[in-house]
Amino acid sequence: MTSTVAAVSSEADLFSDAALSNPYPLWETLQDLGPAVHLTRHNMWLLTRYEQVRAALDDRQGFSSDAGIGLNEHFNRSWASALICLDPPEHGPQRTLFTERLSPRALRPLATTLEARVDAMVEQLVRRGECDAVRDLARGAPVDVIMDLIGWPQDGREMLLSMAAGWFDSAGPDNARTRRAAPRVESLIAYLHDVVRSGTLTSSGFASTMIEAHRRGELPLTAAVGLLCGYVVATFETTINAICSGIWLFATNPEQWALIRAGEVPVHGAVAEVLRMEAPVQYFSRSTRARSISVGW
Ligand code: HEM
Repeated sequence: MTSTVAAVSSEADLFSDAALSNPYPLWETLQDLGPAVHLTRHNMWLLTRYEQVRAALDDRQGFSSDAGIGLNEHFNRSWASALICLDPPEHGPQRTLFTERLSPRALRPLATTLEARVDAMVEQLVRRGECDAVRDLARGAPVDVIMDLIGWPQDGREMLLSMAAGWFDSAGPDNARTRRAAPRVESLIAYLHDVVRSGTLTSSGFASTMIEAHRRGELPLTAAVGLLCGYVVATFETTINAICSGIWLFATNPEQWALIRAGEVPVHGAVAEVLRMEAPVQYFSRSTRARSISVGW
């Protein structure tokens, strides 16, 4: 069934400090306004409900990633070659290359190694008696464990962490926070180019798939760096935020932690719930050139 709803607008600033640190009251207000709200300050439309978001994400023709998924020109230009900013048909072959190493079948043999690495990290922290969950655990796991999987050289990992920290800030609308974070995009991409050129990525790591495709002449350097960016950026901001939120949610809801410990709820379900409750990334966008568009209501 298709129906039309009256356009509603709001002057809300989704990117103020207050909204970013506690977005829930604002999201509730916007959701109550309607399924699609025009945000006048940012000149963009916000889809506030699951059904419409789902329909838009499934509609590649109507809602394109090709102009970038950030909310400012600088970010979208700098990140134009990232997989996430491609539409079909270009998107498909690059995604196949990217996911070759990330399919459940490819990852299964790594499970034992990963568990052992994380167990060792946790044991060390338990022996220490106290730890900072953000610094020692949430940041430590991606830097030590995932960068090894990618095949990243030891040198420069800390530098990468500081380049990636707050990186998603650079994807917001043009405001002071976004401008402060903007140089991170360029320095990170320049650094990725340097590492690819230096030949220091290990030949067995995930990154080798795209580097070899580049060497065979099947993938331009910018596309190889764009794919590598997918690993590196995602490894840091999203994963660190997700681990932090998980620890915080379990610490503040100990009865849920007790259910996990007792094996009464599956861990993967709890992880999905952590991601649902505290989305690590809140504002990737799509563009549309259509004057009129239908989004599933
Ligand atoms: C909790 C952790 C993660 C969260 C919350 C997350 C979130 C997201 C979201 C929301 C998108 C879709 C954005 C859009 O289509 O507009 C996305 C895409 C993507 N993510 Fe993640 N991500 C996570 C972990 C990872 C990891 C570990 C990797 C790499 C190893 C990764 C690599 C990618 C790539 C390459 C894309 C683009 C896919 C495509 O366009 O085909 N992500 N992620």
